[in-house]
Amino acid sequence: GAPVEVDISKLEPGMLTQQEWRGKVVWVLNRTQDMLASLSKLEQEGALADPNSDRSSQPAYCKNPHRSIKPEYLVAVGICTHLGCSPTFRPDVAPADLGRDWLGGFFCPCHGSKFDLAGRVYKNVPAPTNLEIPPHKYLTDTRILIG
Ligand code: FES
Repeated sequence: GAPVEVDISKLEPGMLTQQEWRGKVVWVLNRTQDMLASLSKLEQEGALADPNSDRSSQPAYCKNPHRSIKPEYLVAVGICTHLGCSPTFRPDVAPADLGRDWLGGFFCPCHGSKFDLAGRVYKNVPAPTNLEIPPHKYLTDTRILIG
């Protein structure tokens, strides 16, 4: 499949946009400073199954705590690594149904897998690895090429 370009010039902090690439949904999330702070909090709490992405799929340039090129922009494949359902973007902190330790992320309704705002999988859920990060690069500050 051909690479796909995403214009992020109108993507406000906290907002998610999605694109199709090779028949897959790819998300781009503009993370706020609070969202970025939640990533290190989850690491400190030991909440994540693969915090350093050692067992997960991402380009080498995204094997870092925020799993991205620029800290604020997450680019991730929106397919659960368990059995392929579509996780839901749940940026709300501590909602009644996901619990007090939930700091925002992606929730898969099929079997309850939870991922943080870097697509890193929580412990004790069916999904074995973090969400996949596709190859991508910045064409300009506001245009990302996926693929
Ligand atoms: Fe997502 Fe099973 S497919 S938890």
